[in-house]
Amino acid sequence: MRTLYNMKLSVTLFSGLMVGLLQVKSQTIIPIETKHNALVLQVDAKANIAMVYYGPKLAAQSDYINIVSSYKQGSEYTGVVDAAYTASGSRNLMEPAITVTHADGNNSLDLLFVSHAVKKESDNIAITSIVLKDPVYNLKTILYYKIYYNEDVIEQWSEIKNNEKGNVTLQKFASANLYLRGNSFYLTQYHGDWAKEMQPEESKITHGIKTLDTKLGTRANLFQPSVFMVSMDKPATETEGTVLYGTLAYSGNFRTDLELDYLDNLRIISGINNYVSAYTLKPNEVFTTPAFLTTLSSSGKGTASRNLQSWARNYRLLDGKGTRLTLLNNWEATYFDFDENKLFGLLKDTKKLGVDLFLLDDGWFANKYPRNGDVAGLGDWAENKKKLPNGIASLVKEAENNEVKFGIWIEPEMVNPKSELYEKHPDWVVKQPKREEFYFRNQLVLDLANPKVQDFVFGVVDDLFKQNPNLAYIKWDCNAVIYNAHSVYLKNQSHFYIEYVRGLYQVLERIRKKYPTVPMMLCSGGGGRVDYAALQYFTEFWPSDNTDPLERIFMQWEYSYFYPAISSSNHVTDWGKQPIKFRTDVAMMGKLGFDIVVSHLSPNDLKFCQDAIKTYNEFKPVIWQGDQYRLSNPRESSVASMVYISEDKKTGIAFNYLVNNRYGEGSKLPIKFHGLDASKKYKISELNVYPGTKSSIDAAKVYNGDFLMKIGFNPDINQYRTSVVLKIEAL
Ligand code: GLA
Repeated sequence: MRTLYNMKLSVTLFSGLMVGLLQVKSQTIIPIETKHNALVLQVDAKANIAMVYYGPKLAAQSDYINIVSSYKQGSEYTGVVDAAYTASGSRNLMEPAITVTHADGNNSLDLLFVSHAVKKESDNIAITSIVLKDPVYNLKTILYYKIYYNEDVIEQWSEIKNNEKGNVTLQKFASANLYLRGNSFYLTQYHGDWAKEMQPEESKITHGIKTLDTKLGTRANLFQPSVFMVSMDKPATETEGTVLYGTLAYSGNFRTDLELDYLDNLRIISGINNYVSAYTLKPNEVFTTPAFLTTLSSSGKGTASRNLQSWARNYRLLDGKGTRLTLLNNWEATYFDFDENKLFGLLKDTKKLGVDLFLLDDGWFANKYPRNGDVAGLGDWAENKKKLPNGIASLVKEAENNEVKFGIWIEPEMVNPKSELYEKHPDWVVKQPKREEFYFRNQLVLDLANPKVQDFVFGVVDDLFKQNPNLAYIKWDCNAVIYNAHSVYLKNQSHFYIEYVRGLYQVLERIRKKYPTVPMMLCSGGGGRVDYAALQYFTEFWPSDNTDPLERIFMQWEYSYFYPAISSSNHVTDWGKQPIKFRTDVAMMGKLGFDIVVSHLSPNDLKFCQDAIKTYNEFKPVIWQGDQYRLSNPRESSVASMVYISEDKKTGIAFNYLVNNRYGEGSKLPIKFHGLDASKKYKISELNVYPGTKSSIDAAKVYNGDFLMKIGFNPDINQYRTSVVLKIEAL
């Protein structure tokens, strides 16, 4: 074992990145720095490794050693209260990151520092790895800290290695363990249900443990997504305050514990939920956890969100810097009631509207038990002969004739009990062998832990592409949670939830290997599966089945803290009471689509939509790749306002809405812009003006960027102008 004492003082410097090692007396400091921040680990003379700091980086790395001694918060009884990865069963008294039962049945663990290494992956990316080992048992853990320097994002995960002679049981196995010192902490968390995704709540964290978790297995985020924010000392605003964003990149059961301890410090431990998931690790086996992502900003939520959005576009979201297809979807236009003829009509409407693609939703498959409602047919992925006598191929061909692309809905992980698939393969279904079945939306989940099921699910997608090479888009749905978790295939039921998610990722890996670029929408009865592990396979997600534009303003607002606009599929539908202009304006704030009966639109409504799509095509580079600034919060004001500004600060598009119906409400005050160039001159004009109406904005006026940011601009929102889209253009 390499000890601390023979380690030399070394600081590694390389272009743009500073990750090093400083040894001062018997304390070793490992600063992990991004552009603005540092996460600092410290190893003491007894090889305990602590996380001593995560905050704005200091000018001199040698100052990090003085951090801990500057805090006089009380007695430290264990030497591991601020552990970088809290082990349990020995000295520790707090919530652990890892709990194991050794091969001999012993439950104690201590993890001491062995060595550390830094691997540079590019000018922007470096991975620090820290090897820890139990001094008594042959169990190793490696902590990984991957930094994305310019985006101020840190990705953490761990590897647990069993070098013992027999099986080790992992009772808890977190991805990451943070320890934050501060005066007080404020948590912003989210909750929801179907059509009510991303409802925020902010509260001061009190002593004890607050757990954010899910045990749903699939559609795991239905009640609670894993994204959260922690503000330090006082609640952060868009532009002020220190705030940490965190999320586990994982599509199954997660658990994040936030423990305010007796010293008033905050321990954050996040990983796979260990709920009924004790994991047996065989000798020489390695358990790799999913990644926990954080970004930290000292200038409010806006900076944090822009950092996370850039990171997602640059490194995580599939084709994050690429393009997307506008579309017409038939779900709300037809539900299950359609046939080839009707769809041919909709393909013509797709062309008429001016979008890129027609998306055929649920209801196109199954014959013995036709999919004419959500009670039957799921799992039987052959075209329904009655509705589509000439198959999908004929629709793809007709789409080509109309010069539009064709996409299709699938939900390949699921099965209706009333299906041929269920009849043939009851052993492929997740259910308790001795208990009555219990359904979510009349369906059950297929056992993705079983490789045969993985092949089947892959086959659903592969066959569609093999038969229709010109298929241009997939909407992948996942509508059920897991009840009665049990796999006939698995010997160890405690591995079920984990193996399910591994199976899912294996299928998605295979799909992406064969079809690397085809756009896929991540849907889960709405936003039930929006996370940064799934999004590496998907180009976009469906935030919610709730498309009421007023609701969407609030929902898209919250999603925008964590996910870039290019990933948010927003469709114009008939939900809500607002006119088509309002609905279209709101949908334009992300990836635009429609789910309406085009033939029911009045001539003016149709004209408006056609023009708005053209405008969208012009501005989509700014909406997708620009910097997003939330200007006026619908939860705090009668007007919601959000602006997207190009990197060169020459072009912008601002969306403004009335969100309060009370008498006389509107934009009484000018709305202050952010992100413009103070020294540039700008013109502001109105976009998406409804046919036959006139804009009240004087497009000829010239404003200094400085004025627009210090005084602001009034979009003239009132009861007659409830939705106003503005073009900002530098002269
Ligand atoms: C889910 C999706 C909807 C639609 C239906 C089809 O609810 O969220 O968009 O695709 O399934 O059954």
